[in-house]
Amino acid sequence: MSEEWIWWKHGIIYHIYPLSFYDSNGDGIGDIPGVIEKLPYLKELGVDAIWFSPLYESPFADGGYDISNFRNIDTRFGSIDDFRKLTEYAHTLGIRVIMDLVMNHTSIQHDWFIESNSSTENDKSDWYIWHPGKNGKKPNNWKSAIGGSAWTYSSERKQYYYHSFFHYQPDLNWRNKQMREEYFKQVIYWLDLGVDGFRLDVVNLIVKDKKFRNAPLLSSFPFLSTKSYTRNRPKSFKVLKQLRKIVDGYQDRLLLGEIYAPPPGDSTVAARYLGSDTPLLNLAFDFSLIYRLWNPKSYMRVIIRALELIPEGGWPCNVFSNHDLLRYLNRPGFYWFREEKAKLIATLLLTLKGTPVLYYGDEIGMRNTSLRFSELQDPTGKKYWPFYKGRDRARTPMQWNRDLHAGFSKVKPWIPLNPDYLQRNIESQSESEKSLLTFYRKLIKVRKEYLPLQMGNWIPQIEGENGIMAYSRVYENECLLIVLNFRNYYKSPVFSEDAQVKVLISTHRNTEETTHLNILRLFPFEGTIFQVID
Ligand code: GLC
Ligand code: CA
Repeated sequence: MSEEWIWWKHGIIYHIYPLSFYDSNGDGIGDIPGVIEKLPYLKELGVDAIWFSPLYESPFADGGYDISNFRNIDTRFGSIDDFRKLTEYAHTLGIRVIMDLVMNHTSIQHDWFIESNSSTENDKSDWYIWHPGKNGKKPNNWKSAIGGSAWTYSSERKQYYYHSFFHYQPDLNWRNKQMREEYFKQVIYWLDLGVDGFRLDVVNLIVKDKKFRNAPLLSSFPFLSTKSYTRNRPKSFKVLKQLRKIVDGYQDRLLLGEIYAPPPGDSTVAARYLGSDTPLLNLAFDFSLIYRLWNPKSYMRVIIRALELIPEGGWPCNVFSNHDLLRYLNRPGFYWFREEKAKLIATLLLTLKGTPVLYYGDEIGMRNTSLRFSELQDPTGKKYWPFYKGRDRARTPMQWNRDLHAGFSKVKPWIPLNPDYLQRNIESQSESEKSLLTFYRKLIKVRKEYLPLQMGNWIPQIEGENGIMAYSRVYENECLLIVLNFRNYYKSPVFSEDAQVKVLISTHRNTEETTHLNILRLFPFEGTIFQVID
């Protein structure tokens, strides 16, 4: 491997939603010993790092993103010893472990909040964002992400507290030095335990306007604001600098930011957290592909734009599905020819410049699961936006085989399985040469073998015209060409130059087969990685 190889830049990250990966003790809930058992599977797939959605102690009112104790593992997942074992074993396999870090808020059941809420004069009274209100009313017009006021009145403390999300997730006050120091001690605790990095939950929200100014509203749409006083405050960059300094005291640790900023799918704001001389974050998810339909021109446009935005020192991070934005195969544009499209998306994800993040089950093409209202657990679907049906649909158990409960558990899982597990599961796809899983395994192998796919420049060749996307990846003297046909027709792409090319992997062609670009005729939905030989 080249000396310049940096795991978080050139490796592949696999995202596990821990409730749903593998249940080792028969309570219907995925757990850490279960992940340990399945590590060889992940090794064989070729992942370099696992990012876990929160494993911390939590009442689970927001899928674990409502943390009541940052220093402990929730008993439903196991113990801190289990986590230690997991980290050690993962490291012996060469797999890094990334924790979720929720800096913005805690659970209402966190000791810090209980104390802070108890009076206006306690040691932690300023650790959350409190306000006495204005003339008996809420402090200002700030809204929570799920709609409605972001302020909730505490009858105990007789003040309002601010919450960017649900009312049981009070926001921490990052302007308070003691809180910051205590928080960072926890970060050090996990770093000392051997954690390789953090995915930073909603990290651009952590600091709010000191003066609590009202968000100016548009006169035409008075529910939309033109400026936000609760995101991307200058102080948040300072806080991240402190975090960066701590993390840099350890070798090779990753900070990966979740930065949503309107308009949806625009990566301008995320790019501000990357790069410059001392990058605050190493990576920030680029959600722009998630918001495009099956359209090669718009894919090309957003990829080119995202690359332009990333400053020197930053690095792209590409993703198609996650636990919030659901499974990409259920998005408009994917209704027909899903199997074919899944292979093209796999090829795209693993050949773009940047770090690919796979959501568990992506490798077998898992879909959203239809759930009845009574089966929902996520409050966004159950309580706040019933029409949306919540995020649980993309959080259902991993489909290991066609046994009872899909081999995920010996008992009924915490949330219903997707009944398609009978056809779509890891065991059956492992046995089939033509399956998506086999294709992923091969793709990842090719990506690992050919450095241009990990570290090469990305040079567009055909920008979506005629349904075709083509780009090359160039590193040192080696050039690979990726060609994707988004249409269900045979197509003859027009390249600016002819070249002799050899197939490294393809949805339709045999490996090692050679051809010339000027006579290339693509199969419907073909995705191929060529090596340019002449
Ligand atoms: C992030 C998480 C999401 C959670 C929210 C509040 O967006 O990904 O699942 O609900 O933050 O913590
Ligand atoms: Ca369990």
